[in-house]
Amino acid sequence: MMHYADIIVDLQAGDTGKGKVAHHLAKIPNEYTHVVRYNGGGNAGHTIYHDGEKFVTHYVPVGVIYGIKSVIGPGCVVNVKDLFKEIEELELGGFKVRQNLWIDKRVHIITEDHQNEEGSETKIGTTKKGNGPCYRDKYSRTGLRAESVPELENFLIDCYEEFHETDGQVRILFEGAQGFELDIDWGDYPYVTSSHCTVGGAILNGVPPQKIRKVYGIAKVYQTYVGSKEFEPNDPIFPKIREIGHEYGATTGRARQVNWLDLDKLIEALRINGITEVIFNKLDVLEEVGVFSLYENGKLLNFKTTEEFQNYVEVCIRKKVGLLSYIRWSKTPFGI
Ligand code: IMP
Repeated sequence: MMHYADIIVDLQAGDTGKGKVAHHLAKIPNEYTHVVRYNGGGNAGHTIYHDGEKFVTHYVPVGVIYGIKSVIGPGCVVNVKDLFKEIEELELGGFKVRQNLWIDKRVHIITEDHQNEEGSETKIGTTKKGNGPCYRDKYSRTGLRAESVPELENFLIDCYEEFHETDGQVRILFEGAQGFELDIDWGDYPYVTSSHCTVGGAILNGVPPQKIRKVYGIAKVYQTYVGSKEFEPNDPIFPKIREIGHEYGATTGRARQVNWLDLDKLIEALRINGITEVIFNKLDVLEEVGVFSLYENGKLLNFKTTEEFQNYVEVCIRKKVGLLSYIRWSKTPFGI
C-alpha cells in the first residue's frame, strides 16, 4: 500500500542539481522503498558524485546506488540500446543495477527512426535523442511499449500492482527530469521538451494526490538554458559564471547559456508545483564571481552581499507563496 510519495521537481530549465538532491535523499535509511523516474528519457543527464567518483545517468534512477527498487515510470520513454549501455557502465562502477532496476510495461520506446528523425534538428535545439518523435507517436497511438520488447522482459513491472497491491509500505521518491521552463504546457513553448516536468508529471505515474508528502523544488541562484533561443545577455560576466559553475550539458556537452535568476518565473514554478521545500544550488558560484543580481518585474536588481541577496529572495517567496517548510542554500560541494 502506498504510504507517501515525495517529489523532486526542477524550478528552472533543467540542470539545477536534481540528481544531487535525489542522491542525498535516497541515502536516508528506510526513508524510501522506491525511487521512480517520472518523465523524459535519454535527454536528461543527472550528474552524481558517489564516494568521490563522478557518474552521469540518463535513465537509471539514483536508488540503484543504495540497493533501492528503482523504477522507470510510465511517463518516461526509453532507447533500449542506450539503456543497456548505461546499465553496463554503472555495473562497471560497482552498482547492482539489474537486481534493482524496473521498467513499467507502459513506457514508450524510442526507436532508431525516432532518433534519426531528430538527427539534423536545429529549430529549437533538442538533445537529438528522439524524445519528441517518440512522445508524438505515443499520443498518436502508434507507439511501441516496453511490454512488446523481448530484451526488457526481465525488467518489466506494473506500477499499479507495485504501488497499490503489494504487501507492506510503499514510500516513493520521485525523481524528475528537465524542468518547469521546459515543460510541454508551462514552459516557453515551442522551446520546450515533450513531457510533463511539473508535479503533475509525477502524479501521472500512479500516485493519488493525497499521498504526496513533500515536494522539493530545486533551483540554481542563477539560471541556465540549453537550446536554440537567445537566452544569455551579451555581458562577460555570464561566460565567467559558465566557467566557474561548469555549465556544460551532461548529455550533449553543449555550453549552457547563463542569465540571472528570474524571481517572477521562480514564484510561478513554486506556486504551480505546490513546493514545500526549496533548495537553491551553487551559491558559491555567485560568491566567487562576487556579483549578486536577479530580475523582478523585468528589472535588474543588484545586491551587495550574499546575505542581502538571500534575504530578498526568501522574503519574496514567503510573501508570495506562503510558509514553506524550508528554504536551503547549498554550495558546491553539496550539502542540504
Ligand atoms: P528534447 O527534450 O531533446 O526534445 O529538447 C527540447 C529542449 O529541452 C532543448 O532545448 C533541450 O536542450 C532541452 N533539454 C532536454 N533535456 C534537458 C536536460 O536534461 N537539461 C537541460 N535541457 C534539456
